Amino acid sequence: MRSLAALFLLAFPALAEIAPERAAVLEHMVLQDCGSCHGLTRKGGLGRPLTAEALAHADREGLALIILDGVPGTAMPPWNPLLTKAEALWIADYLKGETP
Ligand code: HEC
Repeated sequence: MRSLAALFLLAFPALAEIAPERAAVLEHMVLQDCGSCHGLTRKGGLGRPLTAEALAHADREGLALIILDGVPGTAMPPWNPLLTKAEALWIADYLKGETP
C-alpha cells in the first residue's frame, strides 16, 4: 500500500496534496477574489486575462510564484498568507485548465 501511495504522489503531485473540500474553497477563491481583478470569466479587468488560452505557454511553477509573491509595484497582491505552495500550484493548474 505504501508504494502505491508513493506512486500516486509521483504521478499526481499537485492533485494528491489538495483535498477535494479544499479544492472547492480554492475554486471559489479564484472566482471571488481573483475574479474581482481578473474578471469573473478571467478574461481580464484590472489584472491580465487568466484564461487557459492566455496562460497556455506559462510555466506552472512561475505562475505559482506570482500567485504567492504577487507582482511588486502593481495591484497584484501576494497570496502567501492564505495559500501554500501546493495550493498555488493547484490554482496554476486550475487556471491552465489542467485540473479535473
Ligand atoms: C487587486 C487586484 C488583483 C487581485 C485580487 C488578483 N490579481 Fe492577479 N494580477 C493583478 C494585476 C494588476 C496583474 C498584472 C501585474 C503586471 O502588470 O505584471 C496581475 C497578474 C497576475 C498574474 C500574472 C499573469 C501574467 O500573464 O503574467 C497571475 C498568474 C495572477 N495575477 C493570478 C492571480 C490569482 C490566482 C489571483 C487570486 C488568488 C489574483 N491574481 C488576484 C491584479 C490582481
